[in-house]
Amino acid sequence: MELQKDKILVLDFGSQYTQLIARKLREIGVYCEIHSHDVSKQEFEVFAPKGVILSGGPDSAAETNRLDIPEFLFTSNVPLLGICYGMQAMAKQLGGEVIKSTQKEFGFAKVQIDAESKLLDSVLDSSKNERSLDVWMSHGDVVISVPPGFSVVGSSANSSVAMMANEERNLFGLQFHPEVHHTKQGKAILEQFVKAVCACETLWNPTNIVEDLVEKIREQVAGKKVLLGLSGGVDSSVVAALLARSIGDQLICVFVDNGLLRFDEVEQVQKMVEKGFGSGSSFDLRIVDAEDVFLDRLSDTNDPEAKRKIIGNTFIEVFEKEAGKLNDIQFLAQGTIYPDVIESAAGKGGKAHLIKSHHNVGGLPSDMSLELIEPLRQLFKDEVRQLGRQLGLPSSIINRHPFPGPGLAVRILGEVKREFLSVLRRADKILIDELHNHELYEKVSQAFVVFLPIKSVGVVGDSRRYDYVVSLRAVETLDFMTATWARLPHEFLDLVSRRIMNEVEEVSRVTYDISSKPPSTIEWE
Ligand code: XMP
Repeated sequence: MELQKDKILVLDFGSQYTQLIARKLREIGVYCEIHSHDVSKQEFEVFAPKGVILSGGPDSAAETNRLDIPEFLFTSNVPLLGICYGMQAMAKQLGGEVIKSTQKEFGFAKVQIDAESKLLDSVLDSSKNERSLDVWMSHGDVVISVPPGFSVVGSSANSSVAMMANEERNLFGLQFHPEVHHTKQGKAILEQFVKAVCACETLWNPTNIVEDLVEKIREQVAGKKVLLGLSGGVDSSVVAALLARSIGDQLICVFVDNGLLRFDEVEQVQKMVEKGFGSGSSFDLRIVDAEDVFLDRLSDTNDPEAKRKIIGNTFIEVFEKEAGKLNDIQFLAQGTIYPDVIESAAGKGGKAHLIKSHHNVGGLPSDMSLELIEPLRQLFKDEVRQLGRQLGLPSSIINRHPFPGPGLAVRILGEVKREFLSVLRRADKILIDELHNHELYEKVSQAFVVFLPIKSVGVVGDSRRYDYVVSLRAVETLDFMTATWARLPHEFLDLVSRRIMNEVEEVSRVTYDISSKPPSTIEWE
């Protein structure tokens, strides 16, 4: 593909920021992929990158038991940029010296620039005689002497080598993290590396791949039929829109109503399908009403993991049964996106550390012997959204907050009962409606109500009431791995609280969750 002609390889040494590096490069307009730190020479040659970025990682370059940068990279004549561990390992392997520092550097730092480097050519404002960078550091080891042929470009209070370069061989090292947004000139440095040093053209733009994807899907599917499990979330909706555009009525969507959905959710999905998911084409939608099966199996179950397992297994069973009713299906489409690919590779022995693995209720049986279609496999979430916009999906789908596979079951503490679901749906709708009314919905990353199966005393008029408690939850986050509770205005919280207590008579108390992640998680179970 022309859009992927100039590309960068990001080698993962286990940093929690590796995905951020790749996202930043794609934003800049250069296609990149993350591969494992032990990439083979053959894999490297097939991928044929114009430059390589070596990520940070938890290992210590000062120890012998560490991950090495593949030696062939140093003689490949391809520019290399080592970040944090990537720089320390580069220094060590090329003959420099790295030690464990007694003072860890974490957070903001100023890097003084002591020498010229082409990596900084368009980064520092020479008209203002700018000679420093505001950066984000997070490291224990430090380089104390650079390898032969390298010069020290910058230093900080705790690192005499905060930036090093071998200009002739196009080898660069940064002790700090240019990929995190706290590093003020970080994006400019990455841009300079890929555009000026590696000579990549900025050809990548996810909205330009629609026609290419449509063409590929048509070729792959030919005249056959495709089954898609629709959840109403962004990813599966974008896949539906793409498939509808590519193959129209050869697409069959199955939507399982597990009884754990939000207010009016089934109707909303139906409406979207009527509009052909923005494509103008119609396709076959089967809504499976499986509420009773799910809720019966969940009764008497309190343990969060046991609840998740029941829901996951029941989903597969219901989906398989429905698929069994269809003839002539050859393909199964899934909304797998790039972070899922990276994370499952990491789970299989790659280096990136998983904080929590999410079992999407979409893990489908392997014995269905259907060929997989995963058109979003190479895309990050923000790119999927751009694609969705290009395909004409409404912003109500594109900007929708994530909703967990196990649905409202993880927002009712302990046993799931119909009565609790009914209370939760009505309270949640009030919160979400008011967020929209106050133009706050898109300012928070995720918001919902949690049902607490405990009763608390209240008073209405002259009478005492003894009813349930709910908690409002709203968070801000970039990657859902860490999150802070959203500072919603007090007047807004007051309004939502009053509306819930007036309109949902089973609730006598509304609380607001002010826990951040970590140590809490976003969901309550
Ligand atoms: P936590 O609660 O782990 O959630 O902080 C992080 C993000 O993941 C969503 N989440 C899930 N998604 N299946 C899913 O598909 C799950 O079991 C699940 N648990 C949490 C959660 O809504 C948040 O966006």
